[in-house]
Amino acid sequence: MTAPLMSLTWTDHVTGRQGFLVVDRLVRGVSSGGLRMRPGCTLDEVAGLARGMTMKEALHYDPEGRYVPLGGAKGGIDCDPRDPVSYGLLVRYLRAMRPYIESFWTTGEDLGLSQDLVDRAAVEAGLVSTIQAVYPLLDDETEARRRLADAFAVEVDGIGLDELVGGCGVAESVLAALDRAGVPYAGTRVSVQGLGTMGGATAWFLTRAGLTIVAVADVKGTIVNPAGLDVDALLAARDGYGTVDRSALRPGDRELPGEDWLSVEAEVLVPAAVSYAIDTTNQQGITARWIVEAANMPVLPEAEELLSARGVTVLPDVVVNSGTNAWWWWTLFGDIGPDADEAFAHTRRAMRALIDRMLARAEADGTTPRAAAHAIVAERLPVIAERFGWYR
Ligand SMILES: NC(=O)c1ccc[n+]([C@@H]2O[C@H](COP(=O)([O-])OP(=O)(O)OC[C@H]3O[C@@H](n4cnc5c(N)ncnc54)[C@H](O)[C@@H]3O)[C@@H](O)[C@H]2O)c1
Repeated sequence: MTAPLMSLTWTDHVTGRQGFLVVDRLVRGVSSGGLRMRPGCTLDEVAGLARGMTMKEALHYDPEGRYVPLGGAKGGIDCDPRDPVSYGLLVRYLRAMRPYIESFWTTGEDLGLSQDLVDRAAVEAGLVSTIQAVYPLLDDETEARRRLADAFAVEVDGIGLDELVGGCGVAESVLAALDRAGVPYAGTRVSVQGLGTMGGATAWFLTRAGLTIVAVADVKGTIVNPAGLDVDALLAARDGYGTVDRSALRPGDRELPGEDWLSVEAEVLVPAAVSYAIDTTNQQGITARWIVEAANMPVLPEAEELLSARGVTVLPDVVVNSGTNAWWWWTLFGDIGPDADEAFAHTRRAMRALIDRMLARAEADGTTPRAAAHAIVAERLPVIAERFGWYR
């Protein structure tokens, strides 16, 4: 693997906390990748996520599309988002990163941060927008910005479209895997770690597709009900950080420790919270047939080897959770309009095509889906670079 184009560590002069930015590569002079805030965030973690963004961008390359992939990047801040100092720290980080955001890093929400919060802090930091570096690539900037703003204003069931599209892609990945294996949706049980943006939206779509969510974990622990949880009630009982108010639990719901979401009886596990959630030790308790990575890097490589050896299929993050990033660009570049049905239909079509291509390749090559996704990316990157230039 080649080293990233740029990686930096920033130290806040007020709190002494650190923030990171890794730009894995630029395409047409621009990169894309969200900003996360979590205690213990490291430069290595951010570098892995930035590489993942390069892959997500390349996987969605459609030579006929208006959206042309950008390079990959990621930002990270080592702080608990619920810490009272976190907002000031976020503003100072964005101010320090301003030259990069103005010229080549487009960013948005990730773990620990909501888009609203990032947007508010960005204005305070003196930025026009967190994606302003891409504006010079647009045909009609005013129209494109209006389209994206209109799309952000769309809500379904009280949840923003921007928060739903990622989960739409994750859910479609689950459904595509079930279809390939000939497993019916009804009766398929799912356990989700994280009920924030990604986990919440994934549960919303899977419930509507007829699957049963039997467990969800948040930062406070696991909530289980083998007969099925009332997902809509849990979603309505979340605070701004995706923590469920336990007073909303129904008779039959039980509270268990945080790690128990892994070992409940379910066919599908959806890690949708932290990186490194599944390791060589706790993977032993997993009985599910599929692990569908909504979170970034939730399964450690050594754990994936062990899981794969005993027939558990891991659908990789770079494909599964790529919907949100692609939706921003499909909307901004004008492949789709600011409409929920159009966004869901486009996301479903693109995700299904990607999952099918990846699984077919894995079967043909006798590899894991992740190795197949990486092989597809390795073939695409030079094609993109040849078309748009290696360094411009
Ligand atoms: N938001 C996006 O657009 C997006 C897109 C692609 C990938 N992702 C990835 O999805 C994952 C989740 O991101 P998000 O934006 O949904 O985050 P979020 O902050 O909206 O929600 C995180 C959820 O995880 C829970 N959680 C946090 N720590 C936990 C722990 N130790 N154990 C159990 N639960 C825990 C929180 O309680 C919350 O329910 C991250 O890995 C992120 O990189 C997010």
